[in-house]
Amino acid sequence: MSDVYILGIESSCDETAAAVVRSGDEVVSNVVYSQIATHQPFGGVVPELASREHLRAIVPVVRKALDDAGQTYQTIDALAVTKGPGLAGALLVGMSYAKALAFALEKPLIGVNHLEGHIHAVLLEERQNGNRELAFPVLALVVSGGHTHLYLAEQKSDGWVYQNIGHTRDDAAGEAFDKVAKLLELGYPGGPMIDFLAKHGNPKAVKFPFAQIKHRDRNPQNRHAEEDRRIDFSYSGIKTAVLRYVETHDMRSAIERRRTALDGMPAPSGEDVLAASDPQTLDLVASFQHAVVNDLVSKTLLAAREYNANTLLVTGGVAANSELRATFQSRAATQGLPVHFPSRKLSTDNAAMIAAAAYPRFLAGEFAGPELSSDAALKLR
Ligand code: KG4
Ligand code: ZN
Repeated sequence: MSDVYILGIESSCDETAAAVVRSGDEVVSNVVYSQIATHQPFGGVVPELASREHLRAIVPVVRKALDDAGQTYQTIDALAVTKGPGLAGALLVGMSYAKALAFALEKPLIGVNHLEGHIHAVLLEERQNGNRELAFPVLALVVSGGHTHLYLAEQKSDGWVYQNIGHTRDDAAGEAFDKVAKLLELGYPGGPMIDFLAKHGNPKAVKFPFAQIKHRDRNPQNRHAEEDRRIDFSYSGIKTAVLRYVETHDMRSAIERRRTALDGMPAPSGEDVLAASDPQTLDLVASFQHAVVNDLVSKTLLAAREYNANTLLVTGGVAANSELRATFQSRAATQGLPVHFPSRKLSTDNAAMIAAAAYPRFLAGEFAGPELSSDAALKLR
């Protein structure tokens, strides 16, 4: 079959992105317009502002993705767009634009689940690097600002199927990074900043215990019932524990001093925030990250044993975290389990992953009709 060029469009949160991917295994262009500067003053994504920014950016971002790829509206074979989950208004911008464009161009359109996109970011790069053989069952941890989900992923003759075997019961891991950073006045988004600062603190300074959220039935007759094997996460407790630590250790004035020092800097760098952080804050940040990373790694490796996984994929914004990568690499190795991550660029939201996930659906002729609509709470099954 000749090459297939799919234009992907992603607008589920605070990145307006477009990319062209060739036959599901080569990123030909990848444009990401980040709205960080817009949301930074608020310490989190403001949904109304996100929609407005997507409206402004989507046309130039798509044009640039086509230009960078040496393609035109006429030469691409299909369009793919994020259907959900995500912010309702943000999703609507990408969806309306992609539907109108596909209709005008008379090209097929494919709706893609954002979480499936994150999984395909890894698969795409593995194929791009020449690794086409995956040992099944594959276990994927999707860990981002909105999700902490474990999926068993399987490739069937007519495409990929997913089984959710665990998820967060409250906050996502990335959300905990962002909320702790906001509480400590470290800036937005919190993940990359905490990743940087944690290298300067003692990860053993503060102990944050995590509960094992697994209700194994003691009755052997019920053992291995599906519900019994689920492995869930929870990250709202650690955020409260950090807040309690701040209050019981008189850290308010240090936080206020940092807020004043960084106030007026349009985009403080890691070095700026480091210079405004005392050792106690750096120890707290390092201990927080260490606890979250260990919980993510331990529960994922437990799930891998429980489901006899032969390959592990770790993806989503938090997969960019350096301690998470190093800990997974070393602990999965002791279990003899190969672990794959996307490059840092494809860990966070992008449209190459959407175009890649659409390719098997293109081959299966799974095209969307005019009724295609976005779904903020879309599940991956
Ligand atoms: O996948 P993503 O771009 O968007 C969602 O689908 O949510 O993930 C964004 C999340 C944010 O919470 C951000 O703080 C976190 O990923 N993140 C990180 C790092 N880089 C991004 N968390 C920890 N360490 C990082 N290096
Ligand atoms: Zn995402």
